[in-house]
Amino acid sequence: SDKDKLPPRPELFDFHGVSMTHYFTDNWENIQNFQARPDDILIATYPKAGTTWVSYILDLLYFGRTERQTSIPIFERVPFLEIFVPNMPSGKDLADKLPTSPRLIKTHFPVQFVPKSFWEQNCRVIYVGRNAKDNMVSYFHFDRMNMVQPAPGDWSDYIHRCMEGNMAFGSWYDHVNDWWKKKQTYPKIHYMLFEDMVEDTRREIDKLCSFLGLSHSDEDKKRVTTGVHFDNMKKDDMANYSTIEVMDFKISPFMRKGKVGDWKNHFTVAQSEKFDEDYKKKMTDLTLQFRTEI
Ligand code: A3P
Repeated sequence: SDKDKLPPRPELFDFHGVSMTHYFTDNWENIQNFQARPDDILIATYPKAGTTWVSYILDLLYFGRTERQTSIPIFERVPFLEIFVPNMPSGKDLADKLPTSPRLIKTHFPVQFVPKSFWEQNCRVIYVGRNAKDNMVSYFHFDRMNMVQPAPGDWSDYIHRCMEGNMAFGSWYDHVNDWWKKKQTYPKIHYMLFEDMVEDTRREIDKLCSFLGLSHSDEDKKRVTTGVHFDNMKKDDMANYSTIEVMDFKISPFMRKGKVGDWKNHFTVAQSEKFDEDYKKKMTDLTLQFRTEI
């Protein structure tokens, strides 16, 4: 059957102090030696924080709606730098071969894993953060349907693993905090929040444009805003990952809900209280605030 051709689900292991799977570490040397260009734009996120959404926005802002959009899937237009899965083009190779300028490149690496060339070239970086609870729920459903992710187990175990940082790409808490801290010494990071994008996509596109130094017309920005609406992306086969074999949409679609507050349908009151208590201990930098409802 088709299933026999799928690569096996990976195990988590400790990699330089971060829980990772080999699909994102096997190409480590090549990735660390990646040569960035000054106009490269790095899109950095913890998995499931809104990477595809922001990738699509940037792609439309820079390249408009062309043949590219209707024929090349988003994960080739915006390569995932560290991915290295058998029978799939490696993210590093896709990035090297990108014909566009600027090149849009995606990573889920914690900040200390980013190839140094991006910093040396003073590249612009867009970081997207999402509140921990919704991020966990989204990651749980993703791990259920994505055969190159570790099996999620049941939900109550999963919450524990999240709190321990025992997930691919490590601890959510470290990820969002360390990227937030990086902004203090490296100002060319635009730190966005998923909840703000849901609340007012157009406003966030305006902010993005000013960070990127783009002066699009009102009309253009309106078109981008409509184009990246959840319902439009969900039905766009070049944006919704339906062409990827390792994902089983019968279990859960990639474009799942796109909401703020779906955690309420997953956490029990007791789970939520326990999570919040632990959260307060870990999230001591009060300048970084996430909204769990809007
Ligand atoms: P849900 O699972 O909560 O629906 P990533 O791209 O980082 O993997 O993040 C995927 C999450 O972003 C999914 O969340 C997905 O539905 C949501 N998403 C993707 N495009 C979106 C859009 N245009 N509007 C709102 N949410 C979107």
